[in-house]
Formats: sequence, C-alpha cells, structure tokens
Amino acid sequence: MTTYGDLNIIPRTLLGPGPSDVHPRVLQTLGYPPVGHLDPQFLDLMNEVQDLLRFVFQTENALTLPVSGTGTAGMEAAFANFVEPGDSVLIGVSGYFSERMVDMAGRYGAHVRRLDRPWGEVFTADEIEDALRTQPAKLVALVHAETSTGALQPLADIASVVHRHGGLLLADCVTSLGGLPVQIDAWDVDIAYSGTQKCIGAPPGLAPITVGPRASEALSQRKSKVSNWYLDLTTLAQYWGPARAYHHTAPINMNYALREALRMIQEEGLEARFARHRAHAELFWAGLEEMDLGLHVARQHRLPTLTTVRVPAGVDELAVRKLLLERYNVEIGGGLGALKGQVWRVGLMGYSSQPRNVLLLLAALREILGR
Ligand SMILES: Cc1ncc(COP(=O)(O)O)c(C=O)c1O
Repeated sequence: MTTYGDLNIIPRTLLGPGPSDVHPRVLQTLGYPPVGHLDPQFLDLMNEVQDLLRFVFQTENALTLPVSGTGTAGMEAAFANFVEPGDSVLIGVSGYFSERMVDMAGRYGAHVRRLDRPWGEVFTADEIEDALRTQPAKLVALVHAETSTGALQPLADIASVVHRHGGLLLADCVTSLGGLPVQIDAWDVDIAYSGTQKCIGAPPGLAPITVGPRASEALSQRKSKVSNWYLDLTTLAQYWGPARAYHHTAPINMNYALREALRMIQEEGLEARFARHRAHAELFWAGLEEMDLGLHVARQHRLPTLTTVRVPAGVDELAVRKLLLERYNVEIGGGLGALKGQVWRVGLMGYSSQPRNVLLLLAALREILGR
C-alpha cells in the first residue's frame, strides 16, 4: 500500500471558465469547525445566506436557497421541479449549456422544442414570441451567460413575452450572478439558478436557486411528485424555511464560505462589482486587439465575465494552455463542443477579476505567441 505525503497543491491563477480564485477570507471561513445542520448557529446562518442571495439575485422571492451540489444541480432542480411528463418546453440553444438543458428536460419527460442559433449569438424577444405563437410552452429556458461561447443573452424584455403566452421563464445565471446585473424581480424571471464558483467567488459546491410567485404556484399545482427526491424544492424549502425539517445534511462549511463570499459582494456593492468586472474585461479586450487576436462574440453581446478568444491559424491551442500553466501557473480554458479547438475561454470572475491578472495573461500570451 502506498503511503501518501501531505497534499501539496500549487496555487494557480484561475482565469478559465471556472472555478475562479477564492479570496483568502472565504478560504479561512471555509475552515471553521463544522456544527450540526440543525445547530441554532447554523440555522441563523441559513437565514443570512438566503437574505444575501436575495440581495445578489435582486429579488424578494421567499423560495431562494443554495441547493447542495454544483451549478448542474441547480439546472437539475429547475427541470425536475418545473417539468412534468408531457409538458412542452422551449429552449433557446446556442451553446453547450443550453444543449445540456435540452438533454435534461427530455430526461424529465418534457416535449422539448429547440430554437437554434449559431454558437455565440443570442435570441431576441420577437424570436421567442414567434416560437410561442406557433406552439405555446409551459417553460421557456435560456442561458443568461453562456460560458461555452461568451455571449450574454438579454433577459429584460423576454419574461413579458413568455408570460403573455402563459409560460414560465427559466434562466441559467451560472456565469452572471455576482459579476453582472441579474435583476430577477425587475425582469420578472420566474426561476433562476447559479453556481458558487464563478462570479460569487466561493469554491464549487452549491447552486443558489430562486423561484418567483408564478413558479411557486405552478409547483403547488403539480399533478405528479417531483421525480428527483434530493432536489424536490418543496421538501428542501421545509428545511430552509421555518419548519426546519431535516432533509439532508447541508454541506456546512460550503455554506460558511458562501456566506462570506456573499458578504464580500455586499461590502463591495453590486454596482461597483459589476463596474470592476466590466473594466477588467475592457482592459483585456483592448490588449487582445493590440495583439491582433480576434474575439468570437460581437461586442454588443459580449460577456464581461467570460471572453472567447479565437485561436490564430496554425497555433496549437492546447500547447499554449500547457505553457501558460507550466510557466505562469495560469489556467485558461479551451473551447467546448462546437468551438473545441477554435477558441480559448478566459474568465475574469469574482476575485480573479483583477488588473494584475489581466496584465499577467496578456504578457504571457504575448511571449508565448510571439506577438
Ligand atoms: C452556464 C453554465 N451552466 C451550468 C454549468 C454547470 O455548472 P457546474 O459545472 O458547476 O455543475 C456551468 C458550468 O460551467 C455553466 O457555465
């Protein structure tokens, strides 16, 4: 039997699609001793986390909580609770994560209709309306910030269209929450989920979700039981709400970390935080343009949190990422799905969104690419 030494992880600068760097304050909080999942101290913390999540989601939704699991658990909770077998679901597909939605909704028995656009483009409210006019859908799902392409799907004017046709709007906010405006109430989004490891600035492991009044009503009107026991929001709400009924053992330390990360967002202020993410993205884009590197997404649809950089002809994109890791300790991502081999994905999210990281990456790319 091998005897293993102490864990020796070399810290990296995480500038990929996630996870992003975690502030020492959050890491320190993660290491506090766990208490029981029904300990009065933890029950207080649960209320604080929910309150802080309402703040970042910009919502008054009572049903707002962190699902135990990564962003995909948030996606799974959304489809498991709001889809019943035979329901019609319309999904705007223009990237890897909307493809995942199609697969997932189908597994919960939905009759899935896809509205396709090339990867890197977004949908207009008129396109959604045209699709709903042909055939209404109980649920319309869109990815707000598509991490595979770097495109930002506007949501502000979509909900009214969806509601006019009797549906609910579901938004994936994994790469937007905490890094750019997500205004659940003002935009009237019915269901949204995220992950802790990107712009929120905590390690991976929790999936904040928020459910508005229309969606809560739909949940109470379900004809069948939610087919996923663990992610049933009604029973989860009994643990996170006043009943405090045991559901599962919450990942205590991850909730400590989430509380601290959210508290840091509150301290910074949402507007200041969004401005920081935008300023550093702009700095990065300007540097790329100076090096004559192309960006995959048109400026008006570009995410400030995740940039897709076109790999120049003749360059081995994997070799570049390897060099970045070996020489500079910097992680960036490669392309996913349809963009595999064609782009690099650079995340400037949460604590990773700092000028020194932008300057380091630009200098490293200049050296490696000889530009
Ligand atoms: C837009 C989007 N949705 C969903 C997910 C899935 O989240 P996770 O990998 O945390 O399960 C990701 C992860 O990168 C994502 O970027």
